Amino acid sequence: MIRAAELFSQMGLDPDLTDGDGRDVHTPIDGSVIGSVMDTDPVVLDDSIGLALHAFEHWRDVPAPQRGDLVRRYGEALRTHKEALGTLVSLEAGKILSEGRGEVQEMIDICDFAVGLSRQLYGNTIASERPGHRLMELWHPIGPIAVITAFNFPVAVWSWNTAISLVCGNPVLWKPSEKTPLTAVACNALLRQLVEDEPALHGLAQVVTGDHNLARVLTDDVRLPLVSATGSTRMGREVGPRVAARFGRSLLELGGNNAMIVAPSADLDLARRAVVFSAVGTAGQRCTTLRRLIAHRAVHDELVESLAKAYASVPIGNPLEDGTLMGPLIDGAAFGHMEAALESARQQGGTVHGGGRALADRWPDAYYVEPALVEMPKQTDIVREETFAPILYVLPYDELDEAIAIQNGVPQGLSSSIFTTDVREAEQFVSAAGSDCGIANVNVGPSGAEIGGAFGGEKATGGGREAGSDSWKAYMRRTTVTVNYSRELPLAQGVRFDVDG
Ligand code: UN1
Repeated sequence: MIRAAELFSQMGLDPDLTDGDGRDVHTPIDGSVIGSVMDTDPVVLDDSIGLALHAFEHWRDVPAPQRGDLVRRYGEALRTHKEALGTLVSLEAGKILSEGRGEVQEMIDICDFAVGLSRQLYGNTIASERPGHRLMELWHPIGPIAVITAFNFPVAVWSWNTAISLVCGNPVLWKPSEKTPLTAVACNALLRQLVEDEPALHGLAQVVTGDHNLARVLTDDVRLPLVSATGSTRMGREVGPRVAARFGRSLLELGGNNAMIVAPSADLDLARRAVVFSAVGTAGQRCTTLRRLIAHRAVHDELVESLAKAYASVPIGNPLEDGTLMGPLIDGAAFGHMEAALESARQQGGTVHGGGRALADRWPDAYYVEPALVEMPKQTDIVREETFAPILYVLPYDELDEAIAIQNGVPQGLSSSIFTTDVREAEQFVSAAGSDCGIANVNVGPSGAEIGGAFGGEKATGGGREAGSDSWKAYMRRTTVTVNYSRELPLAQGVRFDVDG
Protein backbone atom coordinates (compact mmCIF):
# COMPACT_ATOMS: atom_id res chain seq x y z
CA MET A 1 0.00 0.00 0.00
CA ILE A 2 1.27 3.44 -0.90
CA ARG A 3 2.28 5.42 2.22
CA ALA A 4 0.85 8.83 2.92
CA ALA A 5 4.43 10.08 3.44
CA GLU A 6 5.23 9.37 -0.19
CA LEU A 7 2.26 11.44 -1.35
CA PHE A 8 3.28 14.27 0.97
CA SER A 9 6.75 14.23 -0.63
CA GLN A 10 5.19 14.38 -4.08
CA MET A 11 3.36 17.55 -2.99
CA GLY A 12 6.62 19.07 -1.72
CA LEU A 13 5.45 18.71 1.88
CA ASP A 14 7.52 17.36 4.76
CA PRO A 15 6.79 13.61 4.89
CA ASP A 16 7.32 13.71 8.66
CA LEU A 17 3.97 15.53 8.87
CA THR A 18 2.37 12.11 8.45
CA ASP A 19 4.14 10.80 11.53
CA GLY A 20 2.65 12.71 14.40
CA ASP A 21 3.80 10.06 16.89
CA GLY A 22 0.27 9.75 18.22
CA ARG A 23 -2.90 8.02 17.11
CA ASP A 24 -2.56 5.64 14.13
CA VAL A 25 -4.43 6.49 10.95
CA HIS A 26 -5.70 3.50 8.96
CA THR A 27 -6.67 3.29 5.33
CA PRO A 28 -10.05 1.65 4.81
CA ILE A 29 -8.60 -0.02 1.71
CA ASP A 30 -6.88 -2.81 3.65
CA GLY A 31 -6.92 -1.54 7.21
CA SER A 32 -3.16 -0.91 7.30
CA VAL A 33 -1.57 2.04 9.08
CA ILE A 34 -0.69 4.93 6.75
CA GLY A 35 0.48 7.49 9.29
CA SER A 36 -0.28 8.92 12.69
CA VAL A 37 -1.43 12.17 14.25
CA MET A 38 -0.97 13.77 17.64
CA ASP A 39 -4.26 15.03 18.99
CA THR A 40 -4.41 18.69 19.96
CA ASP A 41 -4.53 19.29 23.71
CA PRO A 42 -6.68 22.11 25.14
CA VAL A 43 -3.69 24.39 25.87
CA VAL A 44 -2.49 24.14 22.27
CA LEU A 45 -6.04 24.74 21.09
CA ASP A 46 -6.22 27.89 23.15
CA ASP A 47 -2.98 29.10 21.56
CA SER A 48 -4.38 28.29 18.12
CA ILE A 49 -7.45 30.41 18.76
CA GLY A 50 -5.17 33.22 19.94
CA LEU A 51 -3.12 32.91 16.77
CA ALA A 52 -6.30 32.97 14.66
CA LEU A 53 -7.46 36.17 16.40
CA HIS A 54 -4.08 37.74 15.75
CA ALA A 55 -4.30 36.79 12.07
CA PHE A 56 -7.82 38.20 11.95
CA GLU A 57 -6.66 41.63 13.06
CA HIS A 58 -4.34 41.76 10.05
CA TRP A 59 -6.40 39.89 7.49
CA ARG A 60 -9.60 41.94 7.90
CA ASP A 61 -7.63 45.05 6.82
CA VAL A 62 -6.32 43.42 3.64
CA PRO A 63 -8.55 44.49 0.70
CA ALA A 64 -10.83 41.65 -0.35
CA PRO A 65 -9.40 41.39 -3.90
CA GLN A 66 -5.95 40.87 -2.37
CA ARG A 67 -7.40 38.24 -0.09
CA GLY A 68 -8.75 36.67 -3.26
CA ASP A 69 -5.25 36.59 -4.66
CA LEU A 70 -4.15 34.23 -1.88
CA VAL A 71 -7.06 31.95 -2.76
CA ARG A 72 -6.08 32.16 -6.43
CA ARG A 73 -2.58 30.97 -5.58
CA TYR A 74 -4.02 28.20 -3.46
CA GLY A 75 -6.12 27.06 -6.42
CA GLU A 76 -2.94 26.95 -8.50
CA ALA A 77 -1.18 24.83 -5.88
CA LEU A 78 -4.14 22.46 -5.94
CA ARG A 79 -3.95 22.20 -9.73
CA THR A 80 -0.27 21.31 -9.44
CA HIS A 81 -0.88 18.66 -6.78
CA LYS A 82 -4.26 17.37 -7.91
CA GLU A 83 -3.02 13.86 -8.60
CA ALA A 84 -1.14 13.37 -5.32
CA LEU A 85 -3.82 14.99 -3.16
CA GLY A 86 -6.59 13.11 -4.97
CA THR A 87 -4.71 9.87 -4.31
CA LEU A 88 -4.34 10.77 -0.64
CA VAL A 89 -8.11 11.37 -0.44
CA SER A 90 -8.70 7.93 -1.96
CA LEU A 91 -6.18 6.33 0.35
CA GLU A 92 -7.58 7.86 3.51
CA ALA A 93 -11.33 7.90 2.73
CA GLY A 94 -11.49 4.84 0.45
CA LYS A 95 -13.27 6.51 -2.47
CA ILE A 96 -12.26 5.60 -6.03
CA LEU A 97 -9.48 7.63 -7.63
CA SER A 98 -11.81 9.37 -10.07
CA GLU A 99 -13.83 10.62 -7.10
CA GLY A 100 -10.66 11.50 -5.14
CA ARG A 101 -9.52 13.63 -8.06
CA GLY A 102 -13.06 14.99 -8.37
CA GLU A 103 -12.91 16.16 -4.80
CA VAL A 104 -9.74 18.12 -5.48
CA GLN A 105 -11.41 19.53 -8.60
CA GLU A 106 -14.26 20.67 -6.38
CA MET A 107 -11.65 22.52 -4.26
CA ILE A 108 -10.19 24.15 -7.36
CA ASP A 109 -13.67 25.17 -8.51
CA ILE A 110 -14.55 26.82 -5.20
CA CYS A 111 -11.21 28.66 -5.22
CA ASP A 112 -12.05 30.07 -8.67
CA PHE A 113 -15.50 31.02 -7.46
CA ALA A 114 -14.08 32.70 -4.34
CA VAL A 115 -11.53 34.69 -6.36
CA GLY A 116 -14.35 36.22 -8.42
CA LEU A 117 -16.37 36.74 -5.28
CA SER A 118 -13.52 38.70 -3.71
CA ARG A 119 -14.51 41.56 -6.03
CA GLN A 120 -18.24 41.09 -5.55
CA LEU A 121 -18.99 41.28 -1.83
CA TYR A 122 -21.81 43.68 -2.57
CA GLY A 123 -24.08 45.38 -0.09
CA ASN A 124 -27.38 47.09 -0.89
CA THR A 125 -28.13 50.77 -0.82
CA ILE A 126 -31.67 51.41 0.32
CA ALA A 127 -33.95 54.38 -0.34
CA SER A 128 -34.24 56.34 2.90
CA GLU A 129 -37.60 57.78 3.95
CA ARG A 130 -35.81 60.87 5.24
CA PRO A 131 -34.60 63.70 2.99
CA GLY A 132 -30.82 64.09 2.77
CA HIS A 133 -30.22 60.58 4.14
CA ARG A 134 -28.67 57.50 2.68
CA LEU A 135 -29.06 53.93 3.92
CA MET A 136 -26.59 51.23 3.05
CA GLU A 137 -25.37 47.84 4.10
CA LEU A 138 -21.72 47.07 4.69
CA TRP A 139 -20.49 43.49 4.92
CA HIS A 140 -17.62 42.91 7.30
CA PRO A 141 -15.52 39.87 8.21
CA ILE A 142 -17.00 38.06 11.18
CA GLY A 143 -13.86 36.65 12.87
CA PRO A 144 -12.08 33.30 13.10
CA ILE A 145 -14.41 30.47 12.23
CA ALA A 146 -14.39 26.81 13.24
CA VAL A 147 -14.94 24.24 10.51
CA ILE A 148 -15.82 20.69 11.56
CA THR A 149 -15.84 18.18 8.71
CA ALA A 150 -16.76 14.56 8.10
CA PHE A 151 -14.67 11.71 6.68
CA ASN A 152 -16.63 11.27 3.46
CA PHE A 153 -15.65 14.55 1.82
CA PRO A 154 -12.46 15.08 3.77
CA VAL A 155 -11.23 18.07 1.76
CA ALA A 156 -13.97 19.55 -0.46
CA VAL A 157 -16.28 20.68 2.33
CA TRP A 158 -13.43 22.37 4.20
CA SER A 159 -12.43 24.12 0.98
CA TRP A 160 -15.97 25.46 0.43
CA ASN A 161 -15.79 27.04 3.87
CA THR A 162 -12.18 28.10 3.68
CA ALA A 163 -12.03 29.66 0.20
CA ILE A 164 -15.13 31.73 0.96
CA SER A 165 -14.06 32.58 4.51
CA LEU A 166 -10.66 33.75 3.40
CA VAL A 167 -12.00 36.19 0.83
CA CYS A 168 -14.57 37.33 3.39
CA GLY A 169 -11.68 38.11 5.75
CA ASN A 170 -11.88 35.28 8.29
CA PRO A 171 -9.20 32.87 9.52
CA VAL A 172 -10.20 29.20 9.69
CA LEU A 173 -9.63 26.64 12.43
CA TRP A 174 -10.33 23.19 11.06
CA LYS A 175 -11.23 20.07 12.97
CA PRO A 176 -11.34 17.23 10.44
CA SER A 177 -12.87 13.84 11.11
CA GLU A 178 -10.70 11.63 13.30
CA LYS A 179 -10.82 9.15 10.42
CA THR A 180 -9.25 11.48 7.86
CA PRO A 181 -6.74 13.80 9.53
CA LEU A 182 -3.88 13.36 7.03
CA THR A 183 -5.70 14.93 4.08
CA ALA A 184 -6.44 17.85 6.39
CA VAL A 185 -2.81 18.18 7.42
CA ALA A 186 -1.80 18.16 3.72
CA CYS A 187 -4.39 20.74 2.59
CA ASN A 188 -3.55 23.02 5.44
CA ALA A 189 0.21 22.71 4.87
CA LEU A 190 -0.24 23.64 1.19
CA LEU A 191 -2.14 26.75 2.25
CA ARG A 192 0.22 27.59 5.08
CA GLN A 193 3.18 27.56 2.63
CA LEU A 194 1.66 30.56 0.89
CA VAL A 195 1.77 32.72 4.03
CA GLU A 196 5.05 31.38 5.43
CA ASP A 197 6.78 34.73 4.91
CA GLU A 198 4.08 36.65 6.76
CA PRO A 199 4.25 35.74 10.47
CA ALA A 200 1.13 37.77 11.25
CA LEU A 201 -0.84 35.42 9.05
CA HIS A 202 0.44 32.13 10.45
CA GLY A 203 -2.86 31.68 12.24
CA LEU A 204 -4.90 32.18 9.07
CA ALA A 205 -5.44 28.47 8.47
CA GLN A 206 -4.89 25.87 11.17
CA VAL A 207 -5.77 22.24 11.79
CA VAL A 208 -6.63 20.84 15.18
CA THR A 209 -7.16 17.11 15.58
CA GLY A 210 -9.18 15.21 18.10
CA ASP A 211 -12.56 13.73 18.91
CA HIS A 212 -15.92 15.15 19.91
CA ASN A 213 -14.44 16.59 23.10
CA LEU A 214 -12.28 18.90 21.04
CA ALA A 215 -15.31 19.77 18.90
CA ARG A 216 -17.14 20.75 22.09
CA VAL A 217 -14.40 23.17 23.09
CA LEU A 218 -14.67 24.80 19.65
CA THR A 219 -18.45 25.04 19.77
CA ASP A 220 -18.36 26.65 23.22
CA ASP A 221 -15.68 29.28 22.55
CA VAL A 222 -17.11 32.80 22.17
CA ARG A 223 -14.02 33.88 20.24
CA LEU A 224 -15.27 31.80 17.30
CA PRO A 225 -18.38 33.60 16.05
CA LEU A 226 -19.27 30.96 13.44
CA VAL A 227 -19.10 27.19 13.63
CA SER A 228 -19.65 25.43 10.32
CA ALA A 229 -20.24 21.74 10.97
CA THR A 230 -20.84 18.83 8.61
CA GLY A 231 -21.85 15.43 9.93
CA SER A 232 -24.73 13.47 11.34
CA THR A 233 -28.00 14.97 12.54
CA ARG A 234 -27.09 13.61 15.99
CA MET A 235 -23.92 15.70 15.96
CA GLY A 236 -25.83 18.77 14.74
CA ARG A 237 -28.35 18.42 17.55
CA GLU A 238 -25.49 18.97 19.95
CA VAL A 239 -23.54 21.61 18.02
CA GLY A 240 -26.55 23.84 17.15
CA PRO A 241 -27.83 24.47 20.70
CA ARG A 242 -24.32 24.81 22.18
CA VAL A 243 -23.36 27.48 19.68
CA ALA A 244 -26.74 29.20 20.04
CA ALA A 245 -26.37 29.24 23.84
CA ARG A 246 -23.45 31.64 23.46
CA PHE A 247 -25.21 33.55 20.64
CA GLY A 248 -22.76 32.26 18.05
CA ARG A 249 -23.81 31.36 14.56
CA SER A 250 -23.83 27.84 13.25
CA LEU A 251 -23.92 26.62 9.70
CA LEU A 252 -25.07 23.02 9.72
CA GLU A 253 -24.90 20.47 6.93
CA LEU A 254 -26.27 17.30 8.46
CA GLY A 255 -27.89 14.05 7.40
CA GLY A 256 -29.70 13.48 4.14
CA ASN A 257 -32.21 10.85 3.10
CA ASN A 258 -32.35 11.65 -0.55
CA ALA A 259 -34.94 10.31 -2.92
CA MET A 260 -35.54 9.94 -6.62
CA ILE A 261 -39.01 9.73 -8.10
CA VAL A 262 -39.17 7.83 -11.40
CA ALA A 263 -42.32 8.73 -13.32
CA PRO A 264 -43.91 6.63 -16.06
CA SER A 265 -42.63 8.98 -18.78
CA ALA A 266 -39.00 8.80 -17.54
CA ASP A 267 -36.09 7.86 -19.75
CA LEU A 268 -35.43 4.63 -17.87
CA ASP A 269 -31.92 4.11 -19.18
CA LEU A 270 -30.92 7.56 -17.92
CA ALA A 271 -32.66 6.90 -14.61
CA ARG A 272 -30.89 3.57 -14.12
CA ARG A 273 -27.49 5.12 -14.73
CA ALA A 274 -28.24 8.01 -12.39
CA VAL A 275 -29.42 5.59 -9.69
CA VAL A 276 -26.27 3.51 -9.83
CA PHE A 277 -23.97 6.54 -9.54
CA SER A 278 -26.02 8.21 -6.80
CA ALA A 279 -26.68 5.10 -4.70
CA VAL A 280 -23.48 3.10 -5.18
CA GLY A 281 -20.89 5.84 -5.79
CA THR A 282 -18.66 6.63 -2.78
CA ALA A 283 -20.03 3.31 -1.41
CA GLY A 284 -23.22 5.11 -0.40
CA GLN A 285 -21.32 7.45 1.91
CA ARG A 286 -22.22 10.87 0.54
CA CYS A 287 -24.63 13.06 2.40
CA THR A 288 -26.30 13.36 -1.01
CA THR A 289 -26.37 9.60 -1.66
CA LEU A 290 -29.61 8.28 -3.14
CA ARG A 291 -31.29 6.24 -0.41
CA ARG A 292 -34.90 5.99 -1.58
CA LEU A 293 -36.14 5.19 -5.07
CA ILE A 294 -39.82 6.00 -5.47
CA ALA A 295 -40.86 4.28 -8.67
CA HIS A 296 -44.24 4.46 -10.41
CA ARG A 297 -45.90 1.04 -10.53
CA ALA A 298 -45.84 1.16 -14.34
CA VAL A 299 -42.01 1.16 -14.35
CA HIS A 300 -41.22 -0.32 -10.94
CA ASP A 301 -40.56 -3.94 -11.92
CA GLU A 302 -38.60 -3.12 -15.06
CA LEU A 303 -36.45 -0.67 -13.12
CA VAL A 304 -35.78 -3.08 -10.25
CA GLU A 305 -34.82 -5.79 -12.72
CA SER A 306 -32.37 -3.59 -14.61
CA LEU A 307 -30.94 -2.25 -11.35
CA ALA A 308 -30.45 -5.74 -9.96
CA LYS A 309 -28.43 -6.57 -13.07
CA ALA A 310 -26.40 -3.37 -12.84
CA TYR A 311 -25.79 -3.90 -9.11
CA ALA A 312 -24.48 -7.41 -9.73
CA SER A 313 -21.89 -6.10 -12.16
CA VAL A 314 -20.53 -3.17 -10.10
CA PRO A 315 -16.75 -3.69 -9.83
CA ILE A 316 -16.00 -3.71 -6.09
CA GLY A 317 -12.40 -3.56 -4.94
CA ASN A 318 -9.29 -1.50 -4.35
CA PRO A 319 -10.35 2.10 -5.10
CA LEU A 320 -6.83 2.92 -6.28
CA GLU A 321 -7.09 0.42 -9.14
CA ASP A 322 -8.45 1.35 -12.55
CA GLY A 323 -11.90 0.00 -13.25
CA THR A 324 -13.09 -0.16 -9.63
CA LEU A 325 -16.35 1.70 -9.10
CA MET A 326 -16.96 0.90 -5.47
CA GLY A 327 -14.40 0.95 -2.67
CA PRO A 328 -14.78 -0.03 0.98
CA LEU A 329 -16.90 1.35 3.78
CA ILE A 330 -14.92 3.59 6.09
CA ASP A 331 -14.68 1.04 8.95
CA GLY A 332 -16.16 -1.92 10.79
CA ALA A 333 -18.64 0.25 12.67
CA ALA A 334 -20.10 1.43 9.34
CA PHE A 335 -20.46 -2.19 8.28
CA GLY A 336 -22.23 -2.99 11.57
CA HIS A 337 -24.71 -0.15 10.96
CA MET A 338 -25.37 -1.45 7.46
CA GLU A 339 -26.03 -5.01 8.67
CA ALA A 340 -28.33 -3.74 11.41
CA ALA A 341 -30.29 -1.57 8.96
CA LEU A 342 -30.78 -4.48 6.56
CA GLU A 343 -31.98 -6.66 9.41
CA SER A 344 -34.51 -3.98 10.43
CA ALA A 345 -35.63 -3.64 6.83
CA ARG A 346 -36.30 -7.39 6.68
CA GLN A 347 -38.28 -7.22 9.90
CA GLN A 348 -40.27 -4.30 8.53
CA GLY A 349 -41.38 -6.24 5.45
CA GLY A 350 -38.52 -5.56 3.03
CA THR A 351 -37.01 -7.94 0.50
CA VAL A 352 -33.23 -7.51 0.48
CA HIS A 353 -31.06 -8.16 -2.58
CA GLY A 354 -27.29 -8.09 -2.01
CA GLY A 355 -25.76 -6.23 0.91
CA GLY A 356 -23.34 -8.93 2.07
CA ARG A 357 -19.71 -8.45 2.96
CA ALA A 358 -17.26 -8.79 0.06
CA LEU A 359 -13.54 -9.52 -0.29
CA ALA A 360 -13.16 -10.41 3.41
CA ASP A 361 -10.74 -13.25 2.57
CA ARG A 362 -8.42 -10.89 0.80
CA TRP A 363 -8.73 -7.97 3.22
CA PRO A 364 -9.95 -9.20 6.62
CA ASP A 365 -9.33 -5.76 8.16
CA ALA A 366 -11.30 -3.85 5.56
CA TYR A 367 -15.06 -3.64 5.00
CA TYR A 368 -16.13 -4.06 1.41
CA VAL A 369 -19.80 -4.75 0.77
CA GLU A 370 -22.13 -5.56 -2.08
CA PRO A 371 -24.56 -2.69 -2.64
CA ALA A 372 -28.05 -3.55 -1.38
CA LEU A 373 -31.38 -3.07 -3.13
CA VAL A 374 -34.31 -3.37 -0.74
CA GLU A 375 -37.88 -3.59 -2.02
CA MET A 376 -40.16 -2.06 0.59
CA PRO A 377 -43.98 -2.20 0.40
CA LYS A 378 -44.11 1.16 2.21
CA GLN A 379 -41.97 3.78 3.91
CA THR A 380 -41.23 2.29 7.35
CA ASP A 381 -39.11 3.60 10.23
CA ILE A 382 -35.83 2.22 8.94
CA VAL A 383 -36.39 3.93 5.58
CA ARG A 384 -36.79 7.24 7.39
CA GLU A 385 -33.35 6.85 8.95
CA GLU A 386 -30.10 7.75 7.24
CA THR A 387 -27.77 4.74 7.21
CA PHE A 388 -24.41 5.76 5.80
CA ALA A 389 -24.03 2.75 3.50
CA PRO A 390 -25.02 1.65 -0.03
CA ILE A 391 -28.60 0.65 0.77
CA LEU A 392 -31.29 1.69 -1.69
CA TYR A 393 -34.90 1.27 -0.60
CA VAL A 394 -37.34 0.97 -3.49
CA LEU A 395 -40.93 2.08 -2.92
CA PRO A 396 -43.85 1.97 -5.38
CA TYR A 397 -46.34 4.79 -6.06
CA ASP A 398 -49.47 5.44 -8.12
CA GLU A 399 -49.98 9.23 -8.15
CA LEU A 400 -47.38 12.00 -8.21
CA ASP A 401 -48.88 13.69 -5.13
CA GLU A 402 -48.38 10.45 -3.25
CA ALA A 403 -44.76 10.19 -4.48
CA ILE A 404 -44.02 13.74 -3.34
CA ALA A 405 -45.59 13.00 0.05
CA ILE A 406 -43.31 9.95 0.41
CA GLN A 407 -40.31 12.00 -0.70
CA ASN A 408 -41.09 14.66 1.90
CA GLY A 409 -42.13 12.17 4.58
CA VAL A 410 -38.74 11.87 6.29
CA PRO A 411 -37.01 14.05 8.90
CA GLN A 412 -34.15 15.06 6.58
CA GLY A 413 -34.35 17.56 3.70
CA LEU A 414 -31.10 17.69 1.77
CA SER A 415 -31.42 16.53 -1.83
CA SER A 416 -34.08 15.10 -4.13
CA SER A 417 -34.77 14.37 -7.77
CA ILE A 418 -37.36 13.38 -10.30
CA PHE A 419 -36.95 11.56 -13.59
CA THR A 420 -39.72 12.55 -15.95
CA THR A 421 -40.15 13.93 -19.45
CA ASP A 422 -43.45 15.56 -18.50
CA VAL A 423 -42.86 19.26 -17.91
CA ARG A 424 -45.90 19.54 -15.64
CA GLU A 425 -44.56 16.88 -13.32
CA ALA A 426 -41.09 18.42 -13.33
CA GLU A 427 -42.42 21.86 -12.46
CA GLN A 428 -44.72 20.51 -9.76
CA PHE A 429 -41.75 18.74 -8.19
CA VAL A 430 -39.60 21.87 -7.95
CA SER A 431 -42.53 24.15 -6.95
CA ALA A 432 -43.23 25.29 -3.38
CA ALA A 433 -45.72 22.42 -3.05
CA GLY A 434 -43.16 19.92 -4.36
CA SER A 435 -39.91 18.72 -2.85
CA ASP A 436 -39.14 20.26 0.55
CA CYS A 437 -35.38 19.80 0.14
CA GLY A 438 -32.56 22.30 -0.32
CA ILE A 439 -31.74 20.62 -3.63
CA ALA A 440 -34.36 19.45 -6.16
CA ASN A 441 -33.12 18.05 -9.49
CA VAL A 442 -34.88 17.08 -12.71
CA ASN A 443 -33.38 14.20 -14.69
CA VAL A 444 -30.24 14.45 -12.56
CA GLY A 445 -29.62 12.24 -9.52
CA PRO A 446 -29.51 13.79 -6.04
CA SER A 447 -25.73 13.59 -5.61
CA GLY A 448 -22.82 15.28 -7.32
CA ALA A 449 -23.82 18.93 -7.04
CA GLU A 450 -21.73 21.69 -8.62
CA ILE A 451 -20.20 24.35 -6.36
CA GLY A 452 -21.97 27.27 -8.09
CA GLY A 453 -25.26 26.62 -6.30
CA ALA A 454 -25.90 26.99 -2.59
CA PHE A 455 -25.45 23.58 -0.96
CA GLY A 456 -27.44 22.40 2.05
CA GLY A 457 -30.87 21.37 3.18
CA GLU A 458 -33.87 21.87 5.40
CA LYS A 459 -35.37 20.17 8.47
CA ALA A 460 -32.97 17.73 10.18
CA THR A 461 -30.34 18.58 7.56
CA GLY A 462 -29.83 21.76 9.58
CA GLY A 463 -30.74 24.62 7.24
CA GLY A 464 -27.21 25.78 6.40
CA ARG A 465 -26.03 26.76 2.92
CA GLU A 466 -22.42 26.48 1.82
CA ALA A 467 -20.41 26.93 -1.39
CA GLY A 468 -21.90 29.03 -4.21
CA SER A 469 -24.66 31.58 -4.81
CA ASP A 470 -24.85 34.02 -1.87
CA SER A 471 -23.76 31.53 0.81
CA TRP A 472 -20.89 33.94 1.55
CA LYS A 473 -23.30 36.05 3.61
CA ALA A 474 -23.15 33.42 6.37
CA TYR A 475 -19.46 34.22 6.78
CA MET A 476 -19.84 37.97 7.22
CA ARG A 477 -21.63 40.35 9.50
CA ARG A 478 -23.89 43.02 8.09
CA THR A 479 -23.79 46.61 9.30
CA THR A 480 -26.70 48.83 8.34
CA VAL A 481 -25.46 52.39 8.02
CA THR A 482 -27.60 55.53 7.85
CA VAL A 483 -25.78 58.70 6.74
CA ASN A 484 -27.38 62.12 7.16
CA TYR A 485 -25.88 64.60 4.70
CA SER A 486 -28.51 67.30 5.31
CA ARG A 487 -28.59 70.17 7.81
CA GLU A 488 -31.77 68.87 9.47
CA LEU A 489 -32.45 66.05 11.87
CA PRO A 490 -35.71 64.45 10.70
CA LEU A 491 -36.70 61.34 12.64
CA ALA A 492 -37.89 58.10 11.12
CA GLN A 493 -41.59 57.29 11.17
CA GLY A 494 -42.31 61.05 11.30
CA VAL A 495 -41.68 61.20 15.06
CA ARG A 496 -41.37 64.76 16.40
CA PHE A 497 -39.05 65.38 19.30
CA ASP A 498 -38.06 69.03 19.28
CA VAL A 499 -36.66 70.59 22.42
CA ASP A 500 -36.79 74.39 22.59
CA GLY A 501 -33.76 76.33 23.69
C1 UN1 B 1 -21.16 15.67 1.33
O1 UN1 B 1 -21.42 14.48 1.13
O2 UN1 B 1 -21.04 16.11 2.51
O3 UN1 B 1 -23.05 17.00 -4.14
C2 UN1 B 1 -20.89 16.66 0.26
C3 UN1 B 1 -22.20 16.16 -3.84
C4 UN1 B 1 -20.80 16.65 -3.56
C5 UN1 B 1 -20.68 17.12 -2.15
C6 UN1 B 1 -21.17 16.16 -1.12
N1 UN1 B 1 -20.51 17.72 -4.46
O4 UN1 B 1 -22.45 14.96 -3.78
